[in-house]
Amino acid sequence: MRLSRYFLPVLKQNPSEAQIASHRLMLRAGMLRQEAAGIYAWLPLGHRVLKKVEQIVREEMDRAGAIELLMPTLQLADLWRESGRYDDYGAEMLRITDRHDREMLYGPTNEEMITEIFRAYVHSYKDLPKNLYHIQWKFRDEQRPRFGVMRGREFLMKDAYSFDLTEAAGRASYNQMFVAYLRCFSRMGLKAIPMKAESGPIGGDLSHEFIVLAQTGESAVFLDKRMLDLPVPGEDVDYGADLTPILDEWTHLYAATEDVHDAERYERETPEAERLTARGIEVGQTFFFGDKYSRPMKANVQGPDGVDTAVQMGSYGVGVSRLVGAIIEASHDDAGIIWPDPMAPFGVGIVNLRPGDPEVDEACERAYAALTAAGKEPLLDDTAERPGGKFATMDLIGLPWQLIIGPRGLADGVVEIKRRATGDRQTLPLAAAVRTICE
Ligand SMILES: Nc1ncnc2c1ncn2[C@@H]1O[C@H](COP(=O)(O)OP(=O)(O)OP(=O)(O)O)[C@@H](O)[C@H]1O
Ligand SMILES: [Mg+2]
Repeated sequence: MRLSRYFLPVLKQNPSEAQIASHRLMLRAGMLRQEAAGIYAWLPLGHRVLKKVEQIVREEMDRAGAIELLMPTLQLADLWRESGRYDDYGAEMLRITDRHDREMLYGPTNEEMITEIFRAYVHSYKDLPKNLYHIQWKFRDEQRPRFGVMRGREFLMKDAYSFDLTEAAGRASYNQMFVAYLRCFSRMGLKAIPMKAESGPIGGDLSHEFIVLAQTGESAVFLDKRMLDLPVPGEDVDYGADLTPILDEWTHLYAATEDVHDAERYERETPEAERLTARGIEVGQTFFFGDKYSRPMKANVQGPDGVDTAVQMGSYGVGVSRLVGAIIEASHDDAGIIWPDPMAPFGVGIVNLRPGDPEVDEACERAYAALTAAGKEPLLDDTAERPGGKFATMDLIGLPWQLIIGPRGLADGVVEIKRRATGDRQTLPLAAAVRTICE
């Protein structure tokens, strides 16, 4: 992409409405525009990162055996009356009436709808297990939307739903999602710690919140520091095997949010030197709730004994749009964002220090072609802005590499590269610079 043709409305000043780093930096870096309280337009740079988050989530869901579909954002109120949640959900639900006076709602989650789809087609244990997911916008009329995409009203969520014949099989499906979540967040450069959780309006008795530690997190958390060093299962993890050992490893040390914190147990189980009190951002949550929806909604399957039973279900949410903010909270400095390589909207920024100089332009084009061919998604700053402004923008938008090309260096046969995360700089010939970036 050439910056002269792109749409990157960076702000020079700090927007006064932003209280936390991620919100401030997303506005300043031209990623986001607020259209109403808690409702945002994703500008091109933000949209690229959102798509990367979505793609990693998708790949890990697919790897774990879940199947993607897409359900609508608008749902019929009557569906929610079947589970009894239409009245329970309260003011967070955005209720809408269509021209025929039909009561509808903008979905805050999809347990009812997926159960309705499942029961329409699946009637035998032979078709189980199934795990269906989608990545779709949700609406929750939060009392206090704030911190940008961290607590929006409209937000993008990945929600998966598992269906099994027995409770034991349901728990195995839960374990698969738990392991997929460990992999997913780790691929984004995050340390997300699973913590025992209350299941709230979703229901059930087995639930974990996946929490990224950050000073600006909304909830206080208490954990055993050793959780931070546990090994994340590799790409070769066998989802067909019994995953209980991984679950045990990741749940035997103490980790809890303030809602469920048990100070006495914490002190009993965690040596003082290993205790860590921090704040955290919830980036995902897993629930196993058995027949909470399948029973009232009559989602039954016939077992091998010929008897009909309500299917055993779990649901698994990831805050896709919140993750963009969470990654920035975890990775930034005074100058701007520092994208972990896999999340970066572009892999490298090429800074042309003198557009119009044929030699510099030619070197930039050569670098651009080589980096594009190598799949590095370069962003070429070919604008007329002064070098100081270009450097500030590059630091602000936080691409992992900067490749700086100017007339003085080229006269000596060299260019400069800078690694955004460390600030390390190297001066070297263009071909070697491209090689280093591609390594
Ligand atoms: N208002 C929101 N804005 C952005 N992301 C959200 C919001 N509410 C929930 N999420 C994300 O969706 C995921 C799954 O939804 P879930 O129903 O568990 O949310 P929740 O427990 O109500 O979230 P919270 O406790 O933060 O309100 C959450 O883990 C979170 O990452
Ligand atoms: Mg939650």
